Amino acid sequence: MTLSREQKYRKLDQATPEELEQLREQVAHCPWRQSFHIQPPYGLLNDPNGFAFYDGEYHLFYQWFPLGTFHGMKYWYHTKSKDLARWENIGIGIEPGDPQDSHGAYSGSGIVKDGELYLMYTGNTRNEAWVRLPYQNLAVMSRDGSIAKRSKPVITAVPDGYTEHFRDPKVWRADGKYYCVIGAQRTNGTGCAVLYQSQDLLTWSFLGEISTQLNDFGYMWECPDYFELDQQGVLLFCPQGLSPKGDSFQNVYQSGYVVGKPLDVRTGRLDHEPFRELDRGFDFYAPQTTAAPDGRRILVAWMGLPDIGYPTDRHGWAHCLTLPRELKLRDGKIIQRPVKELEKLRKDEVTAQAVLRSETKSFTGLQGTNYELVCEFSEADAERFGIEFRAGSTERTALTYDRNAKKIILDRSLSGQTIESEYGSERRCSLDAETIKFQLFVDASSVEIFVNDGEEVFTSRIFPSEDSTQIRFFAHGGSAACRASLWRI
Ligand code: FRU
Repeated sequence: MTLSREQKYRKLDQATPEELEQLREQVAHCPWRQSFHIQPPYGLLNDPNGFAFYDGEYHLFYQWFPLGTFHGMKYWYHTKSKDLARWENIGIGIEPGDPQDSHGAYSGSGIVKDGELYLMYTGNTRNEAWVRLPYQNLAVMSRDGSIAKRSKPVITAVPDGYTEHFRDPKVWRADGKYYCVIGAQRTNGTGCAVLYQSQDLLTWSFLGEISTQLNDFGYMWECPDYFELDQQGVLLFCPQGLSPKGDSFQNVYQSGYVVGKPLDVRTGRLDHEPFRELDRGFDFYAPQTTAAPDGRRILVAWMGLPDIGYPTDRHGWAHCLTLPRELKLRDGKIIQRPVKELEKLRKDEVTAQAVLRSETKSFTGLQGTNYELVCEFSEADAERFGIEFRAGSTERTALTYDRNAKKIILDRSLSGQTIESEYGSERRCSLDAETIKFQLFVDASSVEIFVNDGEEVFTSRIFPSEDSTQIRFFAHGGSAACRASLWRI
């Protein structure tokens, strides 16, 4: 589909009330609307933005193009929550279309200063010759919830040595100063992250590049995020242009991190361990973190990827955000767990246990389309064991532990409506453990699987029919003991 510039850069107020009504109707009839994930009212959602705890609540915005399921004129849509479990839709947070963000209010972050929430974001602009000029802008939210954009960008020019692909400022405060990382592309066509410093969030000075050992690692790094955990420095970013390698880098674009000594802001140096992916599933990109008031580091990501069509497109909407996860470091690796507040969503526990002997079994009451499921397999001599969920007569999503290969395998080839199969229908990762615990959050069209308390995570959209509700537990080529608990959400 080729889109005209007029279609891509349409603003919400150019739509007639009838068009919007029709969009809402279309969305309302979609069988894959989520029940406990942040999703757009209509149109396309992408990156989480401006995630911050401010004035007693978590504020979380997302990239939103209302008038289509392609990447058009981006708004910031505003949601908030008191507990990270239940979210309230507020409405438009940042509206694009002024000279500093004429072609979209792109991604950015939030930080609290002097009782207000400062939102720093990239203003995407194009000049008459259609050359992209990225500005870094500010918008400030006051206690009454109103958001005022500053008309003058705070960073107006891309420094020498970098291209127009220069965006997604993530701000933090350290030693009484503010810093931000920005995703960039060098003029030699490689990706990196650059560093700025400010006293007041208004005037920024360019400190240079974050110097990593990844000098030729993709053609662009999007959505960088820097924070410290246990006195270690962590840089998250989304490199574009990596080729698949073994079980890794299977998605169109990647999302991962390096961990090392804290960033030396004077030199920009970050000594680090090798790059690792954050998630092993099919649909995960552009994560952003914030610090909870109790110091926990919380991550939310876009449960989707750029440049891929999804089955909800024809229902007038696309994508959702992941559930919030708490990050911890163990031996230089990020461990991700669903935030404990999500237990509030649990209703009506059903449990079961059995020893499976080369068989597939279902249990009464263990089924559904929206639930949390925890199941643990132990004492196994089976070659393979695991579960099939959102299963029916022809559909199923299969999660397997292959004991010989010591791999977790997620197979969505029979999950329902297919999603761009060019990138395969299986994801795998190595895990060497005797006991395997799967914690699944299943919503109408997604699953997030935490393996062995966050050792690995698989995040994926699936598009089964509404009557594919079964859960089947299996062990093949031997036996395995299995215990399961399910809560409806
Ligand atoms: C990542 C991204 C960002 C950009 C935004 C635009 O998905 O491309 O780099 O700011 O989306 O919506």
